[in-house]
Amino acid sequence: MAKVITLEEFQAHNTRDSLYVLVHEKVYDVTKFIDEHPGGDEVILTEAGKDATDAFEDVGHSDEARELLPGMLIGELDKDGLLKLKSPKPAPIPVVHDAVEKGSNMMYFLPLGLLGAYFAWRLYGA
Ligand code: HEM
Repeated sequence: MAKVITLEEFQAHNTRDSLYVLVHEKVYDVTKFIDEHPGGDEVILTEAGKDATDAFEDVGHSDEARELLPGMLIGELDKDGLLKLKSPKPAPIPVVHDAVEKGSNMMYFLPLGLLGAYFAWRLYGA
């Protein structure tokens, strides 16, 4: 059975001295391969600690490239780790959202208030 790797363990290998990448839920040790990668080392290093599946697929890697993967396989990322990596970005912080909304209400009522004050002054003041 394939080894199950935790998110902590996966993310600990994030330098060129020891580098793991995650592609299609599997963890690969690309430390030795990184210098030979035809796409260069930087692109792989940027994917350290993240889910590199989209980056890997967007490039349209050949069958030859895919055949290299099993030789570098370490195991699978555990379910918890997958969930954490795949969870969508947190929603905007409500406090900030409220402040923005209050701000835009002010923008609306302030000119109206000033207009009202002006007419009141014209009518009763002068
Ligand atoms: C993890 C395992 C990976 C393996 C075994 C691998 C292997 C290869 C191979 C063999 C090629 C030559 C072209 C081909 O056969 O498709 C290639 C090209 C390329 N790879 Fe990867 N790659 C990996 C990960 C990545 C990642 C995570 C990225 C991130 C974007 C990436 C970006 C690229 C790019 C941009 C090229 C194109 C180079 C060019 O055509 O000039 N690769 N890769």
